[in-house]
Amino acid sequence: MEQLQTENNAAGGLSDLTDVLGVAVSPAPTFPILTGRVGTNADQFPDVLEMYVPEGATVADVTYGKGVFWRNIPDGKYNLLATDLQTGTDFSRLPYENQSIDALVLDPPYMHGGVTVKASINECYKNQNTSHASVVRLYAAGILEAARVLRKKGRIIVKTQDEIESGKQRLTHVELISILESFGFCILDIFVLLQPSIPAMREQYQKSARKNHSFAIVGEFRS
Ligand SMILES: C[S@@+](CC[C@H](N)C(=O)[O-])C[C@H]1O[C@@H](n2cnc3c(N)ncnc32)[C@H](O)[C@@H]1O
Repeated sequence: MEQLQTENNAAGGLSDLTDVLGVAVSPAPTFPILTGRVGTNADQFPDVLEMYVPEGATVADVTYGKGVFWRNIPDGKYNLLATDLQTGTDFSRLPYENQSIDALVLDPPYMHGGVTVKASINECYKNQNTSHASVVRLYAAGILEAARVLRKKGRIIVKTQDEIESGKQRLTHVELISILESFGFCILDIFVLLQPSIPAMREQYQKSARKNHSFAIVGEFRS
């Protein structure tokens, strides 16, 4: 997701939104920890962990990618188990015992591929989603496996962004909350991240507001 932001910024985004929105951009974690901020995943992730994952916990980041989420987390603060499809581990078949993990981070490709998504981004994210339904199925597979490996009261952090498919709003975060609850998770919180720059536009017209926010949903595994 950060790569998308970087590309958007490089593509001529406008300046900082902080003044407009009046939301702090500051090194994380802040006090008080807020549910919303302007910044990057690297800025917000420490807030999420600080609030919901105790130091020393065993955390499986199953879509580690480039490790952007961890850039502002001190080494050794958590027992990090970093895996990704790129390094040979599919999050639907994790190499962990049942109920052995304290917290799990899931950040799969959040958009379906297609003409509006750059081929380089699809390649980087190993994005094989061809529809919004396939995006949701991929998340569901990760959440199902999380329900196996997380211990009772273990935490899941699901990163996502809504999308538009054929002109129709797809509120992925709402669908994922429903899936999490159906799979035995209780929702503890939802964090919102606003991009610091105005995203680039392909066309000079728009039929709906351009999305410039993403979510980190925090759930607790109950049963
Ligand atoms: C949005 S990126 C994650 C970025 C990451 N959170 C970071 O901080 O750099 C999506 C990641 O999901 C991985 N991925 C896609 N499908 C996967 C699967 N079935 N199992 C595991 N990882 C997968 C991709 O390889 C990619 O690294």
